[in-house]
Amino acid sequence: MSDYTNKTIIVTGASQGLGKCIVENILQKYNGSQVVLVARNHVLLTSFFNNLKDSDKERVLIIKGDVTDEETINLTIEKTFNKFGKIDGIIFNAGIIEPVGHLYESNFDVDGMKKLFDVNFFSIVKFLNKLLPEIKTNNNNNNNNNSNNNKKKSINIIFVSSGASTRGIDGWLAYGTSKAAVNALCKQIHDEMNEWVNCVSIAPGVVDTEMQHTIREKFVGKMKDESYQNFINLHEKGQLLDGMVVGATYARLIVEGIPENVRGSYIRWDSL
Ligand SMILES: NC(=O)c1ccc[n+]([C@@H]2O[C@H](COP(=O)([O-])OP(=O)(O)OC[C@H]3O[C@@H](n4cnc5c(N)ncnc54)[C@H](OP(=O)(O)O)[C@@H]3O)[C@@H](O)[C@H]2O)c1
Repeated sequence: MSDYTNKTIIVTGASQGLGKCIVENILQKYNGSQVVLVARNHVLLTSFFNNLKDSDKERVLIIKGDVTDEETINLTIEKTFNKFGKIDGIIFNAGIIEPVGHLYESNFDVDGMKKLFDVNFFSIVKFLNKLLPEIKTNNNNNNNNNSNNNKKKSINIIFVSSGASTRGIDGWLAYGTSKAAVNALCKQIHDEMNEWVNCVSIAPGVVDTEMQHTIREKFVGKMKDESYQNFINLHEKGQLLDGMVVGATYARLIVEGIPENVRGSYIRWDSL
């Protein structure tokens, strides 16, 4: 086990699926690191915490709340600084896929699309707008206080994107455009702040999670048959990816660092 001492990582959407797998990878592989889990489902989060070894409980902070709620964002930042003293990395993983629909349908759910954008995109914007000014101020103060050691402290950020951000999957307008916006946000942050923010937007492939279950159960008749059938086939042939395998890549990059050549980019999880 590698000892990456004292790295504090926040993972949003960590109650199940990929987010939970990322947290488990960090706890198992990086014994010096601490993790903050953010999600709404009290039952899942409490059960996760109760099943941890006592020594791991010290390394974990649970924030129960909705990422679109400003109070959740404030509490996450405040409690993380109080318990662990710093934030070294964040994985913006919380995401939803509905509503599904087409612009050529008169009942296309525009309000639902706005709500999806609140979760998949604007919650991230809000979170970073709370955190980055604080980190920038700390960096400036450190530089002023210690002119011999004026290297800026960097923060690692990983955005969980999707293949749907670069190609139009039938009916996934809301989801695909929100993930494309996330890729653009990543590029923008890199271009403006690469001296002290290292970020990358990573698509995880098709992972065996609740989101895939939702697609199979609820999207029949809402997407073109051929597009829908792709997801059924992947499931039936046992070709969905294991969250622990995919999560290992996110855990490694957030703790060990994001390679310089991919910072600011959109990449696939298996391209590194
Ligand atoms: N699975 C795939 O094939 C796949 C493919 C490409 C991209 N992705 C992306 O991977 C990420 C994780 O998805 P997943 O497949 O693991 O889905 P999942 O099993 O449905 O998990 C989604 C997670 O997001 C959290 N979440 C959703 N809305 C939230 C909100 N308003 N506030 C706080 N947490 C919220 C959920 O927690 P609570 O319900 O407890 O709040 C849950 O922990 C998403 O960004 C998704 O778009 C997944």
